[in-house]
Parts: sequence; C-alpha cells; structure tokens
Amino acid sequence: MSVPILIANWKMYKTGEEAAAFIAYLCGRGLPADKRILIAPPFTALEAACLAAQGSGLEVGGQNLYPEEGGAFTGEVSPGMLRAAGASFVILGHSERRRLFGEQDSFIRSKIGAALRHQLTPVLCLGESLEQKSLGETEVVVTKCLESCLEGFSAQELSSLLLAYEPVWAIGTGQSASADDAARVHVLCRTWLGKRFGKAFADRVPILYGGSVTSENLPLFLAREEVQGALIGGASLDERRFAELIQL
Ligand code: PGA
Repeated sequence: MSVPILIANWKMYKTGEEAAAFIAYLCGRGLPADKRILIAPPFTALEAACLAAQGSGLEVGGQNLYPEEGGAFTGEVSPGMLRAAGASFVILGHSERRRLFGEQDSFIRSKIGAALRHQLTPVLCLGESLEQKSLGETEVVVTKCLESCLEGFSAQELSSLLLAYEPVWAIGTGQSASADDAARVHVLCRTWLGKRFGKAFADRVPILYGGSVTSENLPLFLAREEVQGALIGGASLDERRFAELIQL
C-alpha cells in the first residue's frame, strides 16, 4: 500500500483568500514526506487554493460535481470546470449530500462516471446511520452502496478510486468509531471489492476512515494496516491544528 492519505473536507467554510493563506501557512511549515495531503475547499475557493498549492505537492479537489458537461443546471459545477480550476480529485456521496440534498446511489454512480471521464480521482464516501448501526445493518448498508455506486465500472476504469468509510453518526459529533470498528468495516469493503473486481484491485484501493478524526485519535487509525488514511472535517479547519495533525 502507498503512504497514508489525509483529506481535509472544508465543507462550507473559507473564502479564496482564507484558503490561500491556510495553504501558504501549511506549505511554509513543510509538508510531511510520508503522507499525501489533499484539500477540498468550497468551489469558490478552489482556484485560489490550487494557485497557492502549486508546486508544493499538496493536492486540491472538489467536494461535489454535477455529472454533465454543461447545460441549464443552475447552481451546479461540471467535472470539466473542476479540472480547469486545477482540481485532481472530488469527494462524492458524502452523507451530508445524501441527507440534506437527497442524493441516491444511482446519482452518485453517474457522478463517479463523470469524474473518471475527466481524470478526477473519485473519493466515494459511504457509511451507516445510527439507526442502521443499532439494527446491525452496517454490512448490508455498506455492501448495497458499493454494489449500486460501482455497478457497471471495470477495475481498470476504477483504478484511481478512493473509498472513505464515514459512519454518519460519527460525522461532526465528536464521537468517532473505534479503530477496531473502522478496521472491521474496511475489511468488509475490501473483501467485497476483491469478490467483485479481483484481489489485486482490492489490495490497491486506499480505504480512509472519516468521522470526528482528531490529532488524538488519528494515530490509532493510522496504526491499523486496514486503514490507509482519513477524511477530516472539523479538525482540518484551523491551520495550526491541521499543520500539527498532518505531521503525526
Ligand atoms: P468531521 O467530518 O471530521 O467534522 O466529523 C468528517 C466529514 O464529514 O468528512
């Protein structure tokens, strides 16, 4: 497996100016050589973030896209626009998109296709709600999501895929999953990928954990061989805190 991947999901925070200042600070402190650091700012800060990150090794991407090349889709952003702004990856299927904007797996599947057509690395998020967890449905939920979101793609097409296991109950709550629980679901995902696309492919897909990751619990997740990185929301917003966290 490659080096750990840390993705900052800034959600609806930071202007272009704030993003550029954050990135200048981070790069000024020096990026760790033993990790890949990715930042997903809001659309309006994407270009400024890409300019600030130029030549640093820091990767910048989108938090969403609309799966069309262009057209009458008020308020939406196409994969080509993300690429033109300098994005190299895109977060798709985040639980906030599913819950607040009604996104379904079939729609997320078409977004993955659109990302791949534009050489954007798709970061597919999936995870169970608290209710599903209490009903013991985690495996069913995760499997169903993988089945519907990845249906019809070949292993070759999905060669850049990243997965992020993000239990909905852990996002923004301060209550992360345990490293054991995360590792268990990661194994489940990888086993499914192996059955569907072959072991060689499954072994290469980085699976990140997300949900209340902090500098306290990050080392516990990264210590597990089943976990290849983290998707970080709240703890990625403060430049000092994040600069320390990526050095752990
Ligand atoms: P959090 O968010 O780290 O604030 O829980 C993670 C995410 O939504 O990706």
